Amino acid sequence: MTSERIQDALDVRQRAYAPYSNYFVGAAIMTDAGVFVGCNVENASYGLCNCAERTAVFSAVAAGAKNITAVVVATRDGGSPCGACRQVLAEFAEADCPVLCVNESGIITLETTVGALLPHAFTPRNLTR
Ligand code: THU
Repeated sequence: MTSERIQDALDVRQRAYAPYSNYFVGAAIMTDAGVFVGCNVENASYGLCNCAERTAVFSAVAAGAKNITAVVVATRDGGSPCGACRQVLAEFAEADCPVLCVNESGIITLETTVGALLPHAFTPRNLTR
């Protein structure tokens, strides 16, 4: 299962649109409603660039999946999710949700959890309504 998700992340990384940074990122997330993938999509207006992880999460939510159970992120050097993506992942994953970062060869460079990436995350549970 893990090796399949790693391959999914590597495959979708090939579809990244990253002409400005040339840093291609792919993400595969397992959810209660199946696997979703995403790549980074950049824009000439740099602030509009969207990360691979958030592309995958938003795709999952659009398909009705709101529980993320595992995350794989593929980059050339095994980089880990940015702060914004950590917050978005924390919205839909338990703290013990596994996160794997792999490099372009599929080698695992980091094996961690959503909770370890973003301790004390701000979540809807913290909101007083
Ligand atoms: N990027 C991601 O896709 N995920 C991250 O967690 C960090 C950064 C993208 C954004 C941009 O297209 C490129 O990598 C360089 O920052």
